[in-house]
Amino acid sequence: MNLNITNHPLITHKISLMRKTDTGSKDFRELAEEISTLMCYEVTRDLPLDDIEIETPITKTTAKMVSKKMAVVPILRAGLGMVDGIVNLIPNIKVGHIGLYRDPDTLEPVEYYCKLPSDIEERDVFLVDPMLATGGSASAAITFLKNRGVKTIRSVHLIAAPEGVERLNKEHPDVEIYCAALDEKLNDHGYIVPGLGDAGDRIFGTK
Ligand code: PRP
Ligand code: URA
Repeated sequence: MNLNITNHPLITHKISLMRKTDTGSKDFRELAEEISTLMCYEVTRDLPLDDIEIETPITKTTAKMVSKKMAVVPILRAGLGMVDGIVNLIPNIKVGHIGLYRDPDTLEPVEYYCKLPSDIEERDVFLVDPMLATGGSASAAITFLKNRGVKTIRSVHLIAAPEGVERLNKEHPDVEIYCAALDEKLNDHGYIVPGLGDAGDRIFGTK
């Protein structure tokens, strides 16, 4: 299975706090950002380093630096809760947006917005969305990015269901999936069990 679980004790602890019903929107948002920052460290582990000539106060030298162009693309709405966590570590990263919502009856994604950096095809993309449930939303967003010429995509989630991982692996075997927790299953309404409920509503306090 093409899946990386970043199961560091601090990340797991923070995910458990997010799961709790009595965690309010302010704490939920802060936790989503903190976990995204911690995950970013793992997600970027294999970025290439280039040799760059620099001058220290002592001498000229060849130093290793990341010059890869990158973009973070949240799936609206809930993905917005992960953007600042990534930007904290990669301040110059460009941000694109893809708006999708799950039709509550069919659970299929419906697209309502898209705005990407004009040179998106030259960038490694971190697609972010807290929940990978059926995988429909992430799969549609990845197809969309590939149609725009993007070659390298990492799909980054706080919590994933086995059903979503299986679907992404089948439909996009080239895409590396990252999550902080792999949960048990989906319930009859397409919610992750035990999960954390509706991520968008909890981030934005809409329910
Ligand atoms: C949630 C979540 C994902 C999607 C996951 O969004 O943020 O985008 O569901 O489900 P899937 O893997 O079955 O497609 P939702 O549709 O609730 O929209 P929201 O972000 O606006 O709340
Ligand atoms: N979307 C959510 O926000 N939560 C789930 O459990 C599944 C989809």
